[in-house]
Amino acid sequence: MEFDETKLRDHFAEPPSDISLADIDLARIPRHISCIMDGNGRWATSRGLARTEGHKAGIVSLREIITTAVRLGVDVLSAYAFSTENWNRPQYEVDTLMYLFAKTFIDELPLLHRENARVEFLGDISALPTRTRDVFARGLEECADHTGMVLALAVNYGARAEIARAARLLAQEVAAGSLAPEDIDERAFAGKLYTADLPDPELVVRTSGEMRVSNYLLWQVAYSEFYVTDTYWPDFDRWGLLRAIRAFQNRDRRFGGLSQSAKA
Ligand code: IPE
Ligand code: IPE
Ligand code: MG
Repeated sequence: MEFDETKLRDHFAEPPSDISLADIDLARIPRHISCIMDGNGRWATSRGLARTEGHKAGIVSLREIITTAVRLGVDVLSAYAFSTENWNRPQYEVDTLMYLFAKTFIDELPLLHRENARVEFLGDISALPTRTRDVFARGLEECADHTGMVLALAVNYGARAEIARAARLLAQEVAAGSLAPEDIDERAFAGKLYTADLPDPELVVRTSGEMRVSNYLLWQVAYSEFYVTDTYWPDFDRWGLLRAIRAFQNRDRRFGGLSQSAKA
């Protein structure tokens, strides 16, 4: 996607000592970057604050990462906000998260308008509290005409549930006689996932040091590059994203084949 050179330079003015815009190749920015936004609770606890304060601080980071991704010309930014397993947390924390999702979404609509970003939700939105659902529906409608970056928010998302759902949808078509079992291939399957119209993530960033996928995009990460940083999500910023992209650009992506140098 196109980017505005002046806005990009301004955004990355005053770099820290270890990284700057010059360290990355702007022609090889991943098309789809995905973030597992983890560590909000620990960030808060380490400061003597309630876990929910970490979630509030995490929203500020997401805002910065959205703008940063737009500046870099990323096509799709996805973010894991709430998993199907996160319902197992204390009711107060779940309620606060649902409230924050609704509030943030309204508060951030001007940002999405300004940045011309479209929104998609990955996950079963129908199971969310009515107010959160209504706000999401309003946001989807308001941003429907935007043509810029896609912001895909995974809310009440679980990859196993997503895969089971895709199988169910295909089975229903077979039962109805509109699909032949022989026609179920990788493409048909991917077409029934929440991410049907999105490219697979090229880079998955997980904050807070956890080396696991926690039921996130299991199908779609088949050949994604993973980058894990110890930084807690509320401390993750534009420079953190740049470091992740630098690491990505230094990887040798082989997709099961041989690297360019080995082929020669
Ligand atoms: C990620 O931060 C946000 C959500 C899962 C909603 P956590 O709340 O998981 O924070 P930690 O991992 O407990 O520190
Ligand atoms: C993954 O983080 C889910 C989100 C970031 C929304 P968790 O904190 O829920 O994952 P686990 O429990 O550490 O695996
Ligand atoms: Mg966590």
